[in-house]
Amino acid sequence: MTLTAPLTIRGVTFPNRMVVSPMCQYSLREGLMGDWHLVHLGRFALGGFGAVVVEATGVTAEGRITYGCPGIWSEDHIPGLARVTGFLRGQGVVSGIQLAHAGRKASTLPPWRIGEGAEADGTMWQPVAPSALAHGPDAQVPRELTGDEVAGLPQVFAEAAERALRAGFDFVEIHGAHGYLLNQFLSPLANHRTDDWGGSRENRMRLPLAVIAAVRAVWPADRPLFLRLSAVDGVEGGVTLEDSIVFCQKAAALGVDVFDVSATGFAGAKVAPGPGMFLPFASAIRQATGKPVMAVGMMDDVALAADALAREKADLVAIGRGALDDPNWASHAALACGTTPRQAWTKQVGYALERRPVRSAT
Ligand SMILES: Cc1cc2nc3c(=O)[nH]c(=O)nc-3n(C[C@H](O)[C@H](O)[C@H](O)COP(=O)(O)O)c2cc1C
Repeated sequence: MTLTAPLTIRGVTFPNRMVVSPMCQYSLREGLMGDWHLVHLGRFALGGFGAVVVEATGVTAEGRITYGCPGIWSEDHIPGLARVTGFLRGQGVVSGIQLAHAGRKASTLPPWRIGEGAEADGTMWQPVAPSALAHGPDAQVPRELTGDEVAGLPQVFAEAAERALRAGFDFVEIHGAHGYLLNQFLSPLANHRTDDWGGSRENRMRLPLAVIAAVRAVWPADRPLFLRLSAVDGVEGGVTLEDSIVFCQKAAALGVDVFDVSATGFAGAKVAPGPGMFLPFASAIRQATGKPVMAVGMMDDVALAADALAREKADLVAIGRGALDDPNWASHAALACGTTPRQAWTKQVGYALERRPVRSAT
């Protein structure tokens, strides 16, 4: 496996293994996508990535991380999303969207506004969660979801997936990571319920697995389903790699095609940052499930990413901050590996750059 080799999953062919990781932009109102996302996400297609994943997109309004996050809870959201998928498809780039509910980590402020306090104009609300436990000392105390509300969530995710299909996405990714709602249900740190949705590991897995089953039931058989998970919470008493392997085996049986393996999301997590920091988790889940995995977490060192594929530790690499820093990262990586970048590089972008005269030192 190389960074530029195509990969076919169900009926979708990824033109290469380099994927833009979902990244919140906190730039919208009412969840409605506009020009910012067309340009922001479209630029990665010009830079040679084979696939782009739209950031955490709220399956409900109250499930958004901030008031600025995108939504997919109504038909009104479809046209803005469809503009993005239309552009990506025109460039031969595969499009994915992350279906998300932030649970108790909803209703925060964009990172550059944290510290300003609650706003008066309706841009914050009380979040909901498995249990009425705040994420941390400065976080809101959420309202505990009723059993009926929990039972209704798989349908909410399924309806969001149907809208994603109408918006033209090639794949959907269920957000089960980073301490958000589904991770909260999985983790004893956030889930203190005593009904069927909490307690034993089997009960804590019940909602995430029901969401997967409901989405798979409406998502076409020829399109892939991704699941992003936190392989470990990295906090004493939280989800362990062994828990995640059991969860992923069940998720694979329900039709998850690719595990996008991240980690942490709870306050006080102890996983040291560094190049390829979550790669051992991805590799372990790949081995245990026999399914393709996407490695994420400082994978933007080209040699590291190429080696992870060559040694079959991962099947795809997701690039986050490295792509923001250099939207042409995938083209540069292809050139560094001695291979040909995708079309925009050989046409509009690369054509011009390759003919740029070398600047003199003076
Ligand atoms: C600005 C920003 C926004 C992010 N938003 C999301 C998101 O919406 N969903 C998600 O699962 N991860 C999100 N992440 C995490 C990234 O997808 C990625 O997992 C993380 O940045 C590690 O990869 P990197 O080292 O290549 O940046 C975000 C990261 C950044 C920097």
